[in-house]
Amino acid sequence: MSTDEADDRNERDSHDDRTDGRARFPTETPAVVTCGLPYANGDLHVGHLRTYVGGDTFARALRTLGQEVAFVSGSDMHGTPVAVNAWQEGVSPEAFALRHHERYEGIFPRFDVDFDNYGHTRTDANVELTQSFVHSLDEAGYVYDEEIEVAWDPEEEQALPDRYVEGACPYCGAHARGDECDEGCGRHLEPGEIEDPTSVVTGNPAEYRTRSHKFFRLSEFREYLGEFIARLDGTSNARNQPHEWIEGELQDWCITRDLDWGIPYPGEEELMLYVWVDAPIEYVASTKEFAESSESTGDDDSPTSDGSAEGAGESFDWERAWAEDGELVHVIGRDIIQHHAVFWPAMLRGVGYNEPRAILASGFVNLDGKAFSTSRDRAVWADDYLAEGFDPDLYRYYVVTATGFQQDTDFSWDRFQERVNSELVGALGNFVYRSLLFAHRTYEGTPESELSTTVRERIEAAIEDFEESVNEYSVRAIGRAPVELAAFGNEYIQRNEPWKLVDEDPDRAAQVIRDCVQLVKAIGVLAAPVMPGTAARLWEQLGESGSIGEITLDAALEAPPETFDAPTELFERIEDGRVAELNEELQVRIEDATSEPGTGAASADADAQEGGEENVDTEAEPAATADEADLEPIVEERIGFEEFQDLDLRVGRIERAEPIEDSDELVRLEVDIGVETRGVVAGLKRLHDTDSLPGQKVVIVANMEKAELFGVESNGMVLAAGEEADLLTTHDDASPGTRVH
Ligand code: 2FM
Ligand code: ZN
Repeated sequence: MSTDEADDRNERDSHDDRTDGRARFPTETPAVVTCGLPYANGDLHVGHLRTYVGGDTFARALRTLGQEVAFVSGSDMHGTPVAVNAWQEGVSPEAFALRHHERYEGIFPRFDVDFDNYGHTRTDANVELTQSFVHSLDEAGYVYDEEIEVAWDPEEEQALPDRYVEGACPYCGAHARGDECDEGCGRHLEPGEIEDPTSVVTGNPAEYRTRSHKFFRLSEFREYLGEFIARLDGTSNARNQPHEWIEGELQDWCITRDLDWGIPYPGEEELMLYVWVDAPIEYVASTKEFAESSESTGDDDSPTSDGSAEGAGESFDWERAWAEDGELVHVIGRDIIQHHAVFWPAMLRGVGYNEPRAILASGFVNLDGKAFSTSRDRAVWADDYLAEGFDPDLYRYYVVTATGFQQDTDFSWDRFQERVNSELVGALGNFVYRSLLFAHRTYEGTPESELSTTVRERIEAAIEDFEESVNEYSVRAIGRAPVELAAFGNEYIQRNEPWKLVDEDPDRAAQVIRDCVQLVKAIGVLAAPVMPGTAARLWEQLGESGSIGEITLDAALEAPPETFDAPTELFERIEDGRVAELNEELQVRIEDATSEPGTGAASADADAQEGGEENVDTEAEPAATADEADLEPIVEERIGFEEFQDLDLRVGRIERAEPIEDSDELVRLEVDIGVETRGVVAGLKRLHDTDSLPGQKVVIVANMEKAELFGVESNGMVLAAGEEADLLTTHDDASPGTRVH
């Protein structure tokens, strides 16, 4: 696609009105927002951060509504994802997992992902809680013993659970791991299901041995799960995918493994619990730790660096939240929907706990159109991003607003530069700076004047939209709110020209600047969830006391301070030379890694680099020809015909094309679409000769949300294929305005 709105389907369209009959946020009851536990087995790259930044933004947004929230996660220390990698490195799983846990614990706050508690699955709290959950399930008759055939390495005389064995998926035939079809249909696989099993330890074909294991009676929860899914909120993929599993053969679930790393089944030291039993229980244990730690410090309002109220947990009632009526929201990658929408709610139900209110399952992040690959060093590492000196807020904004949360998205340094320069430097930063500078120079702060009705109503509308976005779980809309208000602000100041009014009509000038300062304040309030550091700087520049992390939405309409100092720019422009260097560095690294022997998709240590959360690392990409290797994978999630029909695609004819001066990429087109002529901004400058565009027939998305790029309105989107922006056209005589089906 030719503009930065590439797959910008309106996220809200993917939510039907799920909040019917359920209290809207903020609720009287406490909320818990969790992020999927990253396996403690590798480095984090920026793709991994998507769910954490999304979860953090959502948790902060809830707080600005006045919702009581605990935001928790932790490292997933157990299971074969850790054991296999530790074995490959020749270290104990404990030392290996702790090392990675400590790194994660350090990196999240540097991206302002501020968990109230970040624990891990080996803490006493989690071991105790896991054993007590399992004990309760056992007592309630939900667990039974059964002899099953498990994969076995005859040479090493050891069992081969989960990632110790590879083979073919019995459902789709793709190459798979022992417990998941990670390259094909994505299903969870039960022990013994994988076909043509091969030992990861020796490479030998695996044999089978009979062992006794514990099974959870998942099949008894079929009816409950059907009802649960029907009332589940969040992204639509989390509701749609589980139907097939629940309505199909809902097999009982093997919850133990022959492994010496994990939490033992209570009373049976030889049998370890499957990692997917103790991992989600850490959500509960982490919340409990948060509640207890804040109680013991008696610290109920000590602010963090950006001012979030960390100690609000003094009264956080973790038991009420988890066992009674709290609002439980899980933010995860889309590859672990089955675990969160089927296994986990059944376990919670089995022990008589509360159920999740919502699951937000994010799409994957690609790098320049292709999957991240840790073994090929084809990644932008989280550490490296920070070492380059980039503000974490830039990436936070980028990844939260790039696409709807459940859609796949793409990172490239070029896109990053374009969006930072146009939306943050050009729209938000520019409006804040010019308004505060003018206000400071002319009035030493906020001029004495009334807020106009127009601006008051615009801010009220922004607040309402924001509340709606939170209730619709639209992380993207939450992230876009401050930039949209800034776009209004830029248009408002430009239209009113206060610099002229100062002499001609000083009262009117004061009123316009009063409006602008209020808009700046409201932008700060709306920016706090997605860009907490930037919002805190803006707050300080406004001369506000208190910390922005503690404020709620009503602050957007409270009067700003009477005086403040001269502002400084909130963001720095990213220059072309810098992007060229970053691209070059990445390229060199990829080439070095690919040319080193033993690296690449087929190497034995492909998984050793797999870091953090579940979804973005597709190490074992299927064998592909050189040409195929450049193609993006097909989006797994299908859409219905009705969803397609929502797109209003029309034939258009370009009437005029003119470059947008300050942009390296963009041109403004006037496109005749039969009923009217549309002004559309498209990224064609480098790829097409602007003079050759008029007269060409194109296809445009006519019902695209309007956007403003470099101060120019774009009312539609021109479709184009690939990096070269090959424009889509028609080959017969379809006239402008004809609908494309
Ligand atoms: O897939 C994974 O990366 C798992 N470590 C996620 C666990 S999330 C949860 F349930 F704890
Ligand atoms: Zn499969």
